[in-house]
Amino acid sequence: MIYLTGLLGFLLVLTAEARVGNSSQIDFCTETEQCLLFDLICETDKYEVRHYDSVKWVSTNITTFAMEFAAPVAFSRLFKYISGENEDGKKIQMTSPVVVKMSEKKFWERGVFTMSFLLPTEHQMNPPKPTNTDVYINETPEMNVYVLSFGGWMSTMSNKKKSDELSAALDSVNAKYKADVYCVAGYNSPMTMFKRHNEVWYMVEGDPVCHRS
Ligand SMILES: *[C@@H]1O[C@H](CO)[C@@H](O)[C@H](O)[C@H]1NC(C)=O
Ligand SMILES: *[C@@H]1O[C@H](CO)[C@@H](O)[C@H](O)[C@H]1NC(C)=O
Repeated sequence: MIYLTGLLGFLLVLTAEARVGNSSQIDFCTETEQCLLFDLICETDKYEVRHYDSVKWVSTNITTFAMEFAAPVAFSRLFKYISGENEDGKKIQMTSPVVVKMSEKKFWERGVFTMSFLLPTEHQMNPPKPTNTDVYINETPEMNVYVLSFGGWMSTMSNKKKSDELSAALDSVNAKYKADVYCVAGYNSPMTMFKRHNEVWYMVEGDPVCHRS
């Protein structure tokens, strides 16, 4: 029995680690060694449905009016964490994507922006504890996600345009999703000029829908 439990534990470790992996497996993930991996469930000409396994991130929240204000502060906090601002003083490699969770809010209201860096394989099991109390480790559950990809740079305007485009496509086929929250995922450094890849995500509710309207 002990042997079996040990074996199961070992298999769980293997599958958990399989979901953050070598970026050579994803053609738009070109700037980091490791990326978040997924299974493509289905796609239409408007969007993809992906399955993500449960993974751990290091995250921070900023309450403000726009992503443009939140992003530099959040990025700097998380970058300090991976540069050694953690209890073990560990340097942690950068991964992709960087994800920002946006609360659906009116233009003039403040909202919570949560930025997350994906922890690389070697730190998925036991992430070093952040020393900054504004930084926390966060595990996302296994999930299905509706994804729309776009190029260029993320901004309040492009995010809004693309999330509206995705929700309109989903509404037209009666797809169910968590409409009050969406995420934007970025795969490039701000210095990269060409072939930039960004995504907007809505969480699938119920069975994913891929047929055309
Ligand atoms: C990722 O895969 C490529 C090609 O398969 C290989 O050359 C490279 O060494 C791998 N990198 C890591 C970190 O495993
Ligand atoms: C961060 O913000 C989210 C909402 O996006 C909230 O659910 C969570 O409790 C916040 N966490 C911390 C540590 O502030």
